[in-house]
Amino acid sequence: MHEEVVRFGVSMETDLLQRFDERIARQHYPTRSEAIRDLIRRGLVEEEWAAGAQDVIGTVTLVYDHHVRNLTQRLNEFQHRHAGEVIMSSHVHLDRHNCLEVVVVRGPAQRVRDLADHLRAVRGVKHATLSATTTGAGLP
Ligand code: NI
Repeated sequence: MHEEVVRFGVSMETDLLQRFDERIARQHYPTRSEAIRDLIRRGLVEEEWAAGAQDVIGTVTLVYDHHVRNLTQRLNEFQHRHAGEVIMSSHVHLDRHNCLEVVVVRGPAQRVRDLADHLRAVRGVKHATLSATTTGAGLP
């Protein structure tokens, strides 16, 4: 599908533009336009997540010590409770104690966030991040 592209002018303080140019150079953007498009998409994705009801996708990344009592059972239990939102999970044994688990999730933002919050709160989970994105449907 070919989208119509519109050019528009943006007014901005010199200092702010300079900061922006430094940032996009660090992030390897080829043009200001590409950087601005990404900023707008990110804002829209965040809005989808804030709205709560929209279908979103993401990953929950967990690091935990599997020796902590009941920990693996509890993580398993929460993932089963959210079976509708869990697409797959992958497990890496980092060393004698620590595991890394990546859970790919999809569903209403509220449900996905709820699962991430439950997993994070399990005793023995050292670190848990929710990387929130979108299917991109509706985003050019
Ligand atoms: Ni492990």
